[in-house]
Amino acid sequence: MPETAPRLRQGAGNVGSIGEPLTRREGPLKVTGQARFSADNLPPGTLHAALCTARIARGRVTALDVAAAERHPGVVAVMTPDNAPRLAKDPDAKDGPFTFRLDLLQNASVRYANQPVAVVIAETLEAATEGARLLAPRYEAEAPRIGLDAEAPFKPPGVGIGQPPDEGHGDVEAGLAAAAQRIEAVYETPAQYHNAMEPHAAVAAWDGDRLTLHTPSQGLTAAVGRLAGLFGIPPKNIRIESPYLGGGFGSKGVISGPQVLACMAARLVGRPVKLVARRENMYGPMGHRAETRQTLRLGADGAGKLTALDHHTLTASSRFDDFFEPAGGVSHTLYATPNLSVRHSGVRVDTGTPLFMRAPGEATGSAALESAIDEMAIACGMDPLEFRLVNYAEVEPISGRPFSSKALRACYEQGAARFGWEKRPREPRQMRDADGFLVGWGLGTATFPALMFEAQASAELRADGSGTMVIGAQDMGQGAWTALAQIAADGLGIDIDRLTFEIGSSTMPSGGIAGGSAHTATAGGAIHAAGQAVIAELAQIATTDPASPLYGAGNAGVIARAGRLIRRDDESRSESVGEILGRAGRDRITGTGKASADPAAQKSYAMHAHGAVFAEVKVDPDLGQIRVSRLVGAFAAGRVINPRLVQSQYFGGMIWGLSFALHEHAALDPRTGRFLNDNLAEYHVPVNADTPEMEAILVHEDDPHVNALGVKGVGEIGITGTAGAIANAVWHATGVRVRELPITLDRLL
Ligand code: MOS
Repeated sequence: MPETAPRLRQGAGNVGSIGEPLTRREGPLKVTGQARFSADNLPPGTLHAALCTARIARGRVTALDVAAAERHPGVVAVMTPDNAPRLAKDPDAKDGPFTFRLDLLQNASVRYANQPVAVVIAETLEAATEGARLLAPRYEAEAPRIGLDAEAPFKPPGVGIGQPPDEGHGDVEAGLAAAAQRIEAVYETPAQYHNAMEPHAAVAAWDGDRLTLHTPSQGLTAAVGRLAGLFGIPPKNIRIESPYLGGGFGSKGVISGPQVLACMAARLVGRPVKLVARRENMYGPMGHRAETRQTLRLGADGAGKLTALDHHTLTASSRFDDFFEPAGGVSHTLYATPNLSVRHSGVRVDTGTPLFMRAPGEATGSAALESAIDEMAIACGMDPLEFRLVNYAEVEPISGRPFSSKALRACYEQGAARFGWEKRPREPRQMRDADGFLVGWGLGTATFPALMFEAQASAELRADGSGTMVIGAQDMGQGAWTALAQIAADGLGIDIDRLTFEIGSSTMPSGGIAGGSAHTATAGGAIHAAGQAVIAELAQIATTDPASPLYGAGNAGVIARAGRLIRRDDESRSESVGEILGRAGRDRITGTGKASADPAAQKSYAMHAHGAVFAEVKVDPDLGQIRVSRLVGAFAAGRVINPRLVQSQYFGGMIWGLSFALHEHAALDPRTGRFLNDNLAEYHVPVNADTPEMEAILVHEDDPHVNALGVKGVGEIGITGTAGAIANAVWHATGVRVRELPITLDRLL
């Protein structure tokens, strides 16, 4: 680990405490192949399923050659709208903002390319795959609507999950009219698709009306609820096992159609069914990041202070459901201005429904806003960092609320110092490296809200000094298994090697959603509370027992550490868990805890993580090829549970920001609505050779208000500053302002 990550010791002093840079506890299981991912499950008698998917984007299936598929050796059944199990609930029915409409073979209509239109179930994967090919669907196709100009824009009912489409204050037109400098620019970001290393897999088995499903999920309780509704069975009849996820990025935040189809197929054939999405199956029924066209209008006075900020987003949802990318949200939080307008418009297109994808809204919005801020700084003749400091928001611009904490100034300072920003020439095309490549430096501000969902946990502390914490949390690869265990060890006052830590099953207390960068705060909060409940009872026993050296100290007068309770006022007086419980005639204490957002704190404070990302690019002056040669991010996100894993999250976020700036772009043929690059050969993501030296500085930030643990999220913020920083660096290298992402070499020639 680079030296820039401070080795924080904020915990209670147990081995493996909060603040220690532990490596992933499940790492050895993963690298030795012992970790059992969903697709590794194969109950006796399991059949294999393959999806047959639509090659049109709009219309209906008129014929499937079911007989040909059924004749193929090994094929057991073909599930089509003619024989698919009828569902207890219309999959188009909405029962909450997290319910998305699913295509589950209840009719023959086609709403987007790659929509499942049949499922073939066979003794082998090969037979199922060939059977799906033999179905050779025929269609009645209609002309698809594709792209942001597909129809006249309208005002969406809401953006993201229930956020208002329009917000603001003051008079933007007056602010622009009064400005000494004005810019207006249009930025475009493309559709992007979740490409988790592990495509969704589902192994479903029914026992009467009880369902066991091995499938990756970022939200077990919600997934159980959806399945219960669709199949008309009580939630307690459903068990989802999701111990390991090979990434999620939001695509596993709600259950997808193909995962439900696996359950339907298992019911149809009366045997367990395994359905593993192929890579191209990820492009359509699993959600995506919608394309945006963002118009930024900024005005500034003679001192470079913003007089107006108008951020309009045009984005697309599907023809049949609502998810509108909330790209304007970043303009709610980042810069102070007396006149602010954030607006969203939508169109409907014939694609699958968009969904949250890592930093939904913030990633797209900050890419545009941070470029526009750069353009405005240049128009004002100011250094881009100086311009940001002049317009630093001391309170949340949209609400006027104070921030619960905001160490963004320190992020700017520490990042700039580490990067060497003060040596940056003001004008573009001023720097070349030894090989003659143009060198440019750019800055982007990172921001992401500190969210919190609801979770519960249960804990046990035993007389032998060991403990157990159980919570239906999820490790997507981000390190939850480790960071949450550190919180559990501290909560129970034991060393981490005495802790049994169980996550990843719907039979456990709900861990909430591993999304919105809120999992550590939410699940960690519940874990902390469960540990506190246990320790409170233990302390009660000890401090009221005249035989204890802790007698009379009171609950608040003792601390729990390394399997002992210790007097705060005299650390030489302590007692082990076993001694306390032994005298009380008990062998264990159990407790539960829960966590959710504190409405009073939410009302009083704006809660966001912040950061500053500095990028260096090198551009071939003849060919226009762009390389990111350096990234330095400085982030402040409250308390750091595990600096190694937090740094890793920032690296991952910054790499995605690089991907956003230079690589990712889902291309659809507007005539057919079909994908041109629904595979990892042609949908580009950065490989190691594209990824530069990176540094992530963990800027100290104490937040007494945000939640009990004082943690903000770290999973998504890294992407938000980076895309803009790279676009700004490309301008600085070349003098060419590219407003359409990804920035490819042809745009520089
Ligand atoms: Mo993330 S898009 O909140 O899984």
